[in-house]
Order: sequence, then structure tokens, then C-alpha cells
Amino acid sequence: MRTLLVTGGAGFIGSNFIHHVLGEHNDIRVVNLDKLTYAGNLQNLKDIENDPRYLFIRGDITDRKLIGKLFQREEVDAIVNFAAESHVDRSMLDASPFVDANIKGTQVLLDATREHGVERFVQISTDEVYGSLDEDGLFTEESPICPNNPYSATKAAAELLCRSYHKAYGVPVIVTRSSNNYGPYQFPEKLIPLMIRNALNGKPLPVYGEGKQVRDWLYVEDNCRAIDLVLQKGGVGEVYNIGGNCEKQNIDVVNLLCDILRRLTTNHELRTAIEHIKDPRGSAHDFRYALDSSKIREALGWKPEVNFEEGLVRTIEWYLENQEWVENVITGEYQEYYEKVYGDD
Ligand code: NAD
Ligand code: TYD
Repeated sequence: MRTLLVTGGAGFIGSNFIHHVLGEHNDIRVVNLDKLTYAGNLQNLKDIENDPRYLFIRGDITDRKLIGKLFQREEVDAIVNFAAESHVDRSMLDASPFVDANIKGTQVLLDATREHGVERFVQISTDEVYGSLDEDGLFTEESPICPNNPYSATKAAAELLCRSYHKAYGVPVIVTRSSNNYGPYQFPEKLIPLMIRNALNGKPLPVYGEGKQVRDWLYVEDNCRAIDLVLQKGGVGEVYNIGGNCEKQNIDVVNLLCDILRRLTTNHELRTAIEHIKDPRGSAHDFRYALDSSKIREALGWKPEVNFEEGLVRTIEWYLENQEWVENVITGEYQEYYEKVYGDD
């Protein structure tokens, strides 16, 4: 049995990934280390909490003592580092938690890995480290790193630290840079789940500016398969783009989401009124992300399998069936944050 340390496993992608790994590999045991910030929720893992191959530890990746003890006690063979502050809009309000979790936390994990040794350290990074594209072109793994907001700057710093620990100390690091994920268990502050929740609660749908920005959408399960492949077979020291090959303008995403919601629900409160609001990101709002994923396609045989409409239907159905989950993860802190960004609507 190999022990995989998953950090940030109570968040959106991490919890999907833990389900994926335990389902796919009988010989892997998962230790999930999560601080349980506003974005982390143990309800995401309720169905596996008693699985003998799963252990949850509440803790902060910046806590050097705890990480050292954990590496010693749990005999970690590999690590996938999802733990991070992950929301651009929050980073525009206060960058400090991002510097702590994303940069310092990664350094602590790298130091522990250096001391105790592991087979693989997979750092979950993002396409946002490349900055923004105009109408044409795609980012390859060779494109310059050029982040434009505090979130993406801290993610870039973290993966550069990883690179340096690989070069300087031989830590077996692999970096993934994925595009925008969507699917079950996503906290309702990101575009798709926020719009679903607002529509179901009769609130307006706040599109930043004209909504012409482009994101490359990736169903979360496709990303989990890619990360698993990278963990098992990826080249140490390599960087892999993981894109959905699915570019959409925000306004088109919201319109399609409204069409599907109208088809799937008889909720009389349903409100699909788009409201174009002043862009809270201003000039830091990246216009377009789009990834060239030919490296992982060719080297590891991965490709996205869930098309956007199918993925969106699955996602909306999940949120319709799990409205209680949504209301449970929302706290007073979320209401305060919401008012800061969107006003009191
Ligand atoms: P999320 O915000 O849903 O989850 C983050 C998790 O990390 C939470 O469970 C939180 O409690 C935990 N965490 C935060 N700080 C911690 C700390 N100091 N110590 C321990 N745990 C801590 O984020 P997500 O959307 O699941 O993203 C996961 C990773 O994937 C992040 O590294 C993010 O940068 C990256 N990523 C996300 C996307 C996306 O579209 N969501 C795209 C590309 C890359
Ligand atoms: P988001 O889901 O926050 O992901 P990211 O900023 O990491 O790409 O936002 C996706 C796009 O949707 C981005 O261009 C900002 C826009 N957006 C809105 O128009 N309204 C919203 O309420 C949110 C949260 C995002």
C-alpha cells in the first residue's frame, strides 16, 4: 500500500480527486491534510469518512512542526498539493492569505519533502500563471510566466519555488497547469456555481462588464484523471498543461446555463435575469485563457472526455440535488464577501 498525501482535499478539486483515486487504485491510501478554510468542507467526503484507506487531518500547510511530524508518522510516498487560497476576486481584496498559503505553504511542503524524500511531488498550478491572451494563440508550457493578479502571482511564485527545489535539491516535482474547472462541490463564489445559486434564489446574475472574457472550461473529473496520470507516469521536472479545449465567453456560459436551468427545473423562484455590473477586477481582469495541451495528450495519452453541455447538465443536476450542501457551506463570512464585491442586491 502506498501513502498519498493530498493537501486541500476538502476543497473542490481535491475532494473530487480523492474520490477518483480511491475508486481507481486499491493499493493507495490517502491522507487528506486540510485547514478547512471557508472553502474546505468535510461534507464533500462524508461517503468515504470511514474508509480504512482514508485519513483526514485538520491542519495548515504552513505549520512546519505538524508537517514534519506528519511526514514521519504517515510514511508519505507521494504528495499532491491542492491546498491554496484559490479565488481571484478575494486576492484583489487582500493578498496576504494568498502569500501565506500558496507560497509559504508550498515552501514548507517542499522542505519536508527534501528532508524525508518522496517519489513524486505534484504541484497543482494554473493556466493563470501565463497571464492573458488576445483573441488568438494558445499558451504552451514554454510561454512566459506573466501573472496579472495577486492570486496568479502567488501560484506562479509557488511553482517557481518547486522548480528551484527540483534543480537545487533534486526534489521530484511535477507541475500541472489546468484551465478553469467546473463540476460538483465547487464553492459558490466561482462563476458557474454562483450563477446557479443566484438563479435558484431569485437573485440577478452578475456578469462582470460585457462578459466577453474567454475561459477554457474543463470538467473536474477530466482534470482528476489527468492529475492521476501525471502522478503515476509523468516525467519528473516536467510541466503539463491540462486544458478543456473548450473556449467560451462568459456571457455565453451564463446564457447556456440559464437555458439548461429553465429546462431542468420547475422552481418558480428561478430568475435568469443577467445584470452587467462594473468589473471588480478592472485592468487586472485577464481577457482570455486558452491552453495547448498537446504535451500531455502525446506523452500520457490524456484528453478531455466530457463536452461542455454534458458537463454543465451534470453540474446543474448535482446542484439541484444538493441545494442543502450549498446553503450549508455558505456562512456569514460569505455574505460579507458577497456584499463587498457585488453590493447588497
Ligand atoms: P478550493 O478553494 O475549493 O479548495 C482549496 C482547499 O485548500 C480548501 O479545502 C481549503 O480549506 C484548503 N486550504 C487552503 N489553505 C490551506 C492551508 N494553508 N493549509 C491546508 N489547507 C488549506 O480550491 P480548488 O478550486 O479546489 O483548487 C484547488 C487547487 O487547484 C488550487 O491550488 C488552485 O490554485 C488550483 N486550480 C484551480 C482551478 C479551478 O478552476 N478551480 C484551476 C486551476 C488550478
Ligand atoms: P472565476 O470563476 O472566478 O474564475 P477565474 O477568475 O479564475 O477565471 O471567473 C470566471 C470568469 O467569470 C472571469 O472572467 C470572471 C467572470 N465572473 C463574472 O462575470 N461574474 C461573477 O460573479 C464571477 C464570480 C466571475
